[in-house]
Amino acid sequence: MLGKIKETISFLEETIPFKPEIGIILGTGLGGLVNEIAIHHEMDYEKIPNFPVSTVDGHHGRLIFGILGNKKVVAMQGRFHYYEGYNIQDVIFPVRILKFLGIKYLFLSNASGGVNPEFEIGDLMIITDHINLIPNPLIGKHYPEFGVRFPDMEQVYSKDLILKVKKIAQKKQINVKEGIYTATTGPTFETPAEYKYFRIIGSDTVGMSTVPETIVAHQMGLPCFAISIITDLGVPGKIETITHEAVQKVAAKAEEKMTVIMSELISML
Ligand code: HPA
Repeated sequence: MLGKIKETISFLEETIPFKPEIGIILGTGLGGLVNEIAIHHEMDYEKIPNFPVSTVDGHHGRLIFGILGNKKVVAMQGRFHYYEGYNIQDVIFPVRILKFLGIKYLFLSNASGGVNPEFEIGDLMIITDHINLIPNPLIGKHYPEFGVRFPDMEQVYSKDLILKVKKIAQKKQINVKEGIYTATTGPTFETPAEYKYFRIIGSDTVGMSTVPETIVAHQMGLPCFAISIITDLGVPGKIETITHEAVQKVAAKAEEKMTVIMSELISML
């Protein structure tokens, strides 16, 4: 793992003379943030040694280096999901790389199914905590270079960043919810019984990403901020047939609000 990271970092540092301060994983709903970045360099994942290549519709695989809100950022256009068949170490490999490139914060977005009965389709939810039901990416050989063997998980999602976003949302009159995101492997959406189970165990939403990345980022000491778009409801009486396309459609509508939140947050740091 360390050897691979060193190889990838050497390649990127030699080819791209740019030291990012902030990492962004452009998940569902954040695609439009790219248009706000003054791009200095781009690199297809295929060209980066040891990088996995993404396979899902609507996700392109590129690292984008540029300026956003006066800050040097690196954005992952396209993330890796466990359901695609990657092993969990591959899913999180890019997060290790971003950290070793020098980022001080990690921002992420995703789409999820709301199981909190107060949620509506199209709502944005700040992730305040998570329940991980995907294999833990820290299973396996421990490298002290990444952090401790047994990371404390009391505050994965930075309270300070959450507070900043709540202020931004208030100022911009964007309605944001807060809650707990449960990560499950997918690729199936949930049965009604599974949605009910996720609610009972304490979830507000359920989705198929983000948590592997935040676990690894947190181990390496990176403050994380993650936000989810509620694209469908897993609430008894409100459950409807759902497709990937429907998820993308709802997410596209939330893109403008997501873009405002993220760019304002970055310019505040
Ligand atoms: N379940 C899991 N993942 C999702 C959902 C859902 O209902 N909606 C969007 N991603």
